Amino acid sequence: MNPLLRTPLLDGLELKNPVMPASGTYGAALEGKEFGDVRELGAIVTKTVTPKPRKGNPPPRLAETPCGMLNSIGLENPGLETFLAEVLPRALELGPPVILNLGGESLEEFEWGVERVQETGVVALEINLSCPNVQGGALPFATDPEACLRIAQSLSNRSELPLFFKLSPNTHLLCEVAMAAVEGGAQGLTLINTLLGMAVDWRLGRPRIARGVAGLSGPAIKPVALRCIYQVRQVVEVPILGVGGIQSVEDVCEFLAAGASAVQVGTQHFREPLAGVRLARELGELCAQEGFSVQDLQNRLGKDRKRNRDH
Ligand code: SIN
Repeated sequence: MNPLLRTPLLDGLELKNPVMPASGTYGAALEGKEFGDVRELGAIVTKTVTPKPRKGNPPPRLAETPCGMLNSIGLENPGLETFLAEVLPRALELGPPVILNLGGESLEEFEWGVERVQETGVVALEINLSCPNVQGGALPFATDPEACLRIAQSLSNRSELPLFFKLSPNTHLLCEVAMAAVEGGAQGLTLINTLLGMAVDWRLGRPRIARGVAGLSGPAIKPVALRCIYQVRQVVEVPILGVGGIQSVEDVCEFLAAGASAVQVGTQHFREPLAGVRLARELGELCAQEGFSVQDLQNRLGKDRKRNRDH
């Protein structure tokens, strides 16, 4: 392990580097291995798995945009039981610790899912409260601090595994929701899920995505992601997994400096399947060259702000 890249997240959860795929952009890393050595990833984060199988939304459900893409997949997945039996064992064999991203349509589904995945070999759960492509985009748990508090309390009472709550930028109450998640027992947060967006085919007179609105990801949302992490870092101390448009090692450093504890690489994986592996390697090279560690990089803006306040 490169000591400069050591990424302690929680007691008992330390990654060898802070780079992992964002949920939904890398399956369970099984295809990534066809392209190169995914063992170099700090962790694997799975596509959202829900208690019941889901077919997802009708096509077209992807559209490219300037500096990004829109998706409205609708959490297509084989369901938790099939995933645990057929996919997870192969993902665990790859080497990096596996974080399972869990979705659900109701509190009861999340509760059942959290209980079901204990002792399956995953190191943590990412609780997806923020998919904009289901339930009419209502995001009940990610926009209402009270609802978030209740689900966080209920799920943390049922889990020995650390829970990272994946939150949405599509609310003006992000900091309140983040604080509620932590008060309820979330050990970490993932920021951010996609921004609501739309693409229009005016010639055909219809949206480019069948469902109309969709989630925007890619470099276009990087400034929004940095802003969310920076603001939430002011109000919580738990680890934040930062995600939103990361393409370069400079981007990784910006996210860490803004307050992320580790980063997730998403949309870039669609055109560069080894983007996460490359960024882990480049981060190691940069740290060695500049003589700093990942921990030195973390929350640099927070330290600057404190220094400014103190003077
Ligand atoms: C989807 O499957 O629709 C995307 C997942 C997400 O945005 O959380």
